[in-house]
Order: sequence, then structure tokens, then C-alpha cells
Amino acid sequence: MSVHKSDIKKVTTHQLAAMKERGEKISMLTAYDYSMAKIIDGAGIDVILVGDSASNVMAGNETTLPITLDHMIYHATSVVNAVDRALVVVDIPFGSYQGSSTEALRSAIRIMKESGGHAVKVEGGKEIEDSVKRILSAGIPVMGHLGLTPQSIYKFGTYTVRAKEEAEAQKLIDDAKLLEELGCFALVLEKIPSALAERVAKELTIPVIGIGAGSGVDGQVLVVHDMLGITQDFKPRFLRRYANIGGMMTEAVQHYIQDVKSVDFPNEKEQY
Ligand code: KIV
Repeated sequence: MSVHKSDIKKVTTHQLAAMKERGEKISMLTAYDYSMAKIIDGAGIDVILVGDSASNVMAGNETTLPITLDHMIYHATSVVNAVDRALVVVDIPFGSYQGSSTEALRSAIRIMKESGGHAVKVEGGKEIEDSVKRILSAGIPVMGHLGLTPQSIYKFGTYTVRAKEEAEAQKLIDDAKLLEELGCFALVLEKIPSALAERVAKELTIPVIGIGAGSGVDGQVLVVHDMLGITQDFKPRFLRRYANIGGMMTEAVQHYIQDVKSVDFPNEKEQY
């Protein structure tokens, strides 16, 4: 029996809320292109994040700052084309929502209209309150992101663990509660102490998804290139590598080069 897209039960923001309620953990990975998204979605992931980490892993930039709204829409369109089941969340890139709530709404609408993504993600709390409100008022689901927010890396100065001090931890809790009150459907917490992340997950009713935030939250997200071992030199403590695809690719390419040089490839069956 063939499976039609309409037969597949799609993950919605409401289902994520129900998963939190029944204590089922949410799985989330990044993807930026059609082929990778097809594999991840087929494997049964709940949420695909078209992260602005595309700036790092796809374009080789040192930070997420250079990626543009047009780039994000290109990546998101490729992912949406592949996905049958997962909820697709798209990062609004740096400089496309912080200036004014009007600009934020315009950026979010472009993402939804042009890529077909299902929700957007923004970094920050109180300082972007108006932008979050405005996007939500248009009926666009918003995922928040607190803790280590890579779009602010030049303010932080380093990629070390955030909110270790009382004042920063309290601001994070206040921001998390504000984002929930505003109507965000979920929150990402990046690289903060696990006890703080667990406390936030307990105090909020919306799902809290962690990266480097311990196991006491409602789900986990990783950058797919990191967990598959495609990126080789990024080794933070929170990262678990599930494969060495980078190593396998190197071996396969070396094998191919050898076969081409020795005229082993193509053989008689591989030509016309
Ligand atoms: O851009 C991204 O990949 C992210 C995740 C690390 C949460 O924001």
C-alpha cells in the first residue's frame, strides 16, 4: 500500500503540549536541506529545526550572524519539501526581528508564506517582547530560545555555560515565564545548568527543549551534523555522537579516488 502525505499524522504544536502533559519526551534535530530532512523525518523525529546554525555547518561561517532571511527561506523550503510528519520550525535570523515589531512580523510572514514552515523561533526574552507579541498576533506559532543565544555571541564574548550566576538565572526564569504568558508554544534552553533547566521545565506548562541543559527538560535538540559526526572538531561536553558519518564519507571518497585512478571504476557493468 502506498502512503500518501495526507495519510500521515502530522506533529502539531498541540501534540507537543500533549506530549509534555503525558511525560513523553520530544525529539528535535536540525536540518537544512531536502535529503537530510527526508531521512530524519522518515526516522520519526518529532520536530525539525531549520536552525540559523546553517550559517556554521552549511556555509562555514564562524557565527550565526551572517545568514540572511533569504538564505533561511531557501533552507526551510528545501526541508518542507521533504517532510511528511515532523513539525518544521524555522529560525528568524539575526537582524530580521530585533529592529522593530513591524520588521519581525514581516520576516515571520515571509518565512511562513515562502517556505511553508509551520512555526518560527526567536532568541531572547523581555527585549523582544513586542516582536514576539506581533508575530503571535498574526497567528504564527513562536518558539522561544534562552540561555546561550548564539545571535548575541559578541555580547557574551564566549560560548561557555550561561546563567550560572543568580542574577542571570533569575532573568532567564522571568523571560521564560514571559514567553509562556505571551503565548509561545515551546522554549529552547541552550547550555545552562541542568538544575535551572529542570526548574524552568517544571514551572512552565509549555514544552521546554534543551541543548546542553540536562535531562530534566521535556525534550532534546542537537545539530544533526554534530550528532552524526559530520562535523569533526566540535566536541562540547553535551554532544553525544551517534555515528561517524564524516569518517565513513572520507573512507568512501578515498575508495572512489583509488578506483578512478586505477580504472577499476567504472567496470563493464557500469557503462553503456
Ligand atoms: O540554530 C540552531 O541550530 C539552534 C539550536 C542549537 C537550538 O538554534
